[in-house]
Amino acid sequence: MTVPILRQLADLHAKTSEWTRAGEVIGVVPTMGALHQGHLSLVEAAKAECDRVIVTIFVNPKQFNNPEDLAKYPRTEADDAVKLEPYGVDAIYVPEPDQIYPAGFATNVSVAGLTDVMEGEFRPGHFDGVATVVAKLFLQTRANRAYFGEKDYQQLMVVRRMARDLDIPTEVIGCPTVREASGLAMSSRNLRLSPEGLEVAAHLNAAMRSVAEALGRGEAFDEVAKHACAGLLEAGFSEVEYLDLRSAASLKPLGRASEPARLFAAALVEGIRLIDNIEVPAA
Ligand code: PAJ
Repeated sequence: MTVPILRQLADLHAKTSEWTRAGEVIGVVPTMGALHQGHLSLVEAAKAECDRVIVTIFVNPKQFNNPEDLAKYPRTEADDAVKLEPYGVDAIYVPEPDQIYPAGFATNVSVAGLTDVMEGEFRPGHFDGVATVVAKLFLQTRANRAYFGEKDYQQLMVVRRMARDLDIPTEVIGCPTVREASGLAMSSRNLRLSPEGLEVAAHLNAAMRSVAEALGRGEAFDEVAKHACAGLLEAGFSEVEYLDLRSAASLKPLGRASEPARLFAAALVEGIRLIDNIEVPAA
């Protein structure tokens, strides 16, 4: 059955009012479209745990710090709708821009602390854009539960903090990163890589896994990281923005995996910025 595509908040509310009255649990999967298996795994998780599932597709201009990245962001709405058909989603919400940012919109949701590092440092304003749009999407969809990928682990933490701090009654659920056979984390941005670029890209996760293994053998992070960054540049990345070992709970930097930790990286290939993160077993 074709999934209804809703573009106006009033149409979304007509549905969610009915569902809420019937006592149904509503799940939301916020996305920017160009759907791949990573997004679809979130839809599956939502379907398994909720009575109604809404997928939102909105390429949010407020979270792009680079205008070229925004202009080139893939927009594939018709294909996305086809991909969602087999999942029994109840609605696809593709808001017109004025449904999210009406004329005169002047509010900014900003989460302090967690946003000072990594993506927050290299993409100024990015997390304000994310927190603002996600707060709106939670309130507009009246979702009881919301599904996010660990692929964007820092985003997941920011969104969870924002919902708690603002008493938005949406439970934020994190789901594992879905990868290509090469280990490359699936991402809509991978669509912009050439076949050679994809080969280079696969080195990122491989390098991160060897860093995690070396940490498991008790090696010091600084040395291992230096070696891994040099290897990535050699493999064809033009720049490694960061390769950080951080606490999984607070994101504070660590020299060893002395507590539950994650390794985070951002690197550029063919002008495309790729990010990834993996769990590091405690040494
Ligand atoms: P987007 O990049 O489209 O991602 C939508 C959701 O899919 C996010 O929760 C992201 O973490 C998850 N995701 C992406 N790739 C994944 C993968 N390989 N495995 C598992 N999950 C994956 O993230 C955004 O959009 C936006 O910032 C958004 C939250 C929609 C706000 O605009």
